[in-house]
Amino acid sequence: MNEQDTPTHGSEVGPTGHGTAVRLDEGHIIGDGGIPERFSNPGLPVHVPRAADLDHDAARRAEKQVTTLFGISILGTLLFIVLYFLIDVEETIYVPGIGVTSASNLALGVTLALALLGIGFGAIHWAKTLMPDHEMVEERHPLRATDESRDRVVNEMREGGNSSQLTRRPFLKYTLGGALGLFAVPLVLQVAGSLGPMPQKSLSLTFWHGGPSGPGQEPEFRPLRLMRDPENTPVRADEVTVGSVYHILPEGLLDLEEGVLEEKAKAAVLLVRLQEDEIQSEKQLDWGYQGIVAYSKICTHVGCPVGLYEQVTHHLLCPCHQSTFDVTRDCEVIFGPAKRPLPQLKITVDDEGYLVSEQPFAEAVGPSYWERGQ
Ligand code: FES
Repeated sequence: MNEQDTPTHGSEVGPTGHGTAVRLDEGHIIGDGGIPERFSNPGLPVHVPRAADLDHDAARRAEKQVTTLFGISILGTLLFIVLYFLIDVEETIYVPGIGVTSASNLALGVTLALALLGIGFGAIHWAKTLMPDHEMVEERHPLRATDESRDRVVNEMREGGNSSQLTRRPFLKYTLGGALGLFAVPLVLQVAGSLGPMPQKSLSLTFWHGGPSGPGQEPEFRPLRLMRDPENTPVRADEVTVGSVYHILPEGLLDLEEGVLEEKAKAAVLLVRLQEDEIQSEKQLDWGYQGIVAYSKICTHVGCPVGLYEQVTHHLLCPCHQSTFDVTRDCEVIFGPAKRPLPQLKITVDDEGYLVSEQPFAEAVGPSYWERGQ
């Protein structure tokens, strides 16, 4: 393509079925807009000779600059070697902005940086100013091999198969197949055996069912008091004022001898009190107690603890990926990647006025996967 064929920036590149289009180099479209079905080859930019190509003195200057940079690198390396032996590793030095630091590390770091940067900058400057500046084009050769090469490969494969005698000695083939096939079994066994026990129902149960809910454990439901975390003290309904938030765990969880963290990771709950007329969901009202509502603290996106409560808007925020749940609307997701509301824990009060669970979570808590929330 010669220079005349090369469109300039902003010029029209030809009519299309959708109107006249322009080159998009400048990030905007003029005329009646539209994208051409096929762009014409814009060609290469006009070659501009460098100062060093035209002027002998400029080339000499460039050469001096490159040799200076390589000289800095040599100096950096020599200083590195000398300082390596000279400075005691225990010696410290005060550097403004950094404070007290190891003198040896500082000296070696600086000299090594000089050595490397000198080589790097020198090489780049050399390439940009002195090395040949011709545009090179290499046409792509066909990717398909010639027929002779293909025939030769097929024959070599055949010959290899014949010389291994696998066709003449079938037992070799079968025993080799058996050995290689069985060899994979120990690897699979090790991986499968390291996965630990099957989770069984433990992903759907929590301590709110009445006790430990690990694999193989399916406790009978019993009402459990809502206990402050970490004080492990029960909460009376009349202590929960409007706008307050409590981190809650089921009664007995913190008294476990083992598995506390695993149980806590599923059973943690947030307790909030709203004005009853702010609650917009009938089910939420029924499952709460005089405006006090309890929701799983485990985000339904990928399970981070939902840790922020905005008192004014009544929004719960997950700090991990900003999923936001509206407490006035049964913890519906109003923003972020979570796909389902936080599960609500149905609560009431016992004879002494303490808040207790009235049933376990009606659905699995935590991250959503295909069958959750159905
Ligand atoms: S874990 Fe809560 S938004 Fe991702």
